[in-house]
Amino acid sequence: MDVNKIVNAASFLKEKYSKVPKIGLILGSGLGVLADEIIEPVKIPYNEIPDFPVSTVEGHAGQLVFGDLNGVDVVAMQGRFHYYEGYSFDKVTFPVRVMKELGVEILIVTNAAGGVNESFTPGDLMLISDHINNMGSNPLIGPNDSKLGVRFPDMSEAYAKDLRKAAKEIAQQLNINVKEGVYVGNTGPTYETPAEVRLLRVLGGDAVGMSTVPEVIVARHAGLKVLGISCISNMAAGILDQPLNHEEVIETTEKVKKDFLQYVKALVKNMA
Ligand code: HPA
Repeated sequence: MDVNKIVNAASFLKEKYSKVPKIGLILGSGLGVLADEIIEPVKIPYNEIPDFPVSTVEGHAGQLVFGDLNGVDVVAMQGRFHYYEGYSFDKVTFPVRVMKELGVEILIVTNAAGGVNESFTPGDLMLISDHINNMGSNPLIGPNDSKLGVRFPDMSEAYAKDLRKAAKEIAQQLNINVKEGVYVGNTGPTYETPAEVRLLRVLGGDAVGMSTVPEVIVARHAGLKVLGISCISNMAAGILDQPLNHEEVIETTEKVKKDFLQYVKALVKNMA
């Protein structure tokens, strides 16, 4: 990871938006609408930002949105980069490095995920308590630049306990039902086989998706606090007698949109 590229991209963005965003948001499949709630938004397409990758998946707009979300200065990624698209982990996690350089202190990561825990229902929101990196590699492999973080980062509290506690309290106040569980990051792009889903359950996974893990590893390396929210868009393969498809994922996130928007806006305000 080249520090100059990070500083360069951040300087470019600071010229377009002069305030310091305290919170960074990564919006997953179907959840990008949250960025539309930002007041007086400054939108910067990824393809204009030096060294930023450009996303390719449907349901991902591909821009940074700066501005005021419920009274708090934020920067949101409307569309993220996935390893399965062919980007290196360096590319996938570059925006997180840039957010840190911009002054972001807290990262809220969101995703659509398959429910592995059989007590879940499609449409549930799940606070991520922890993750399992099942992607076969790690974004920090390679020489470590101590300007960016330590060689051997602690991951014993990848998802900040205090943020999770506050998030549970806010869910109660808003009467929004949130689950909590372990997110397993797979590479995709195939959905899992039923046997793989049974394996993940034995391993302690509650939800499975194709993102988030690399970004959170880099965020922790960079010293950002992290809150993660999965939208359970479908039951993982083999639980129900039906095939999975991306349209179903988008449809379900569409249904929970209202709760999700209200919830994240309340979380952001509480973190300020
Ligand atoms: N598996 C992996 N990734 C996913 C799923 C799933 O079932 N649903 C949404 N993203």
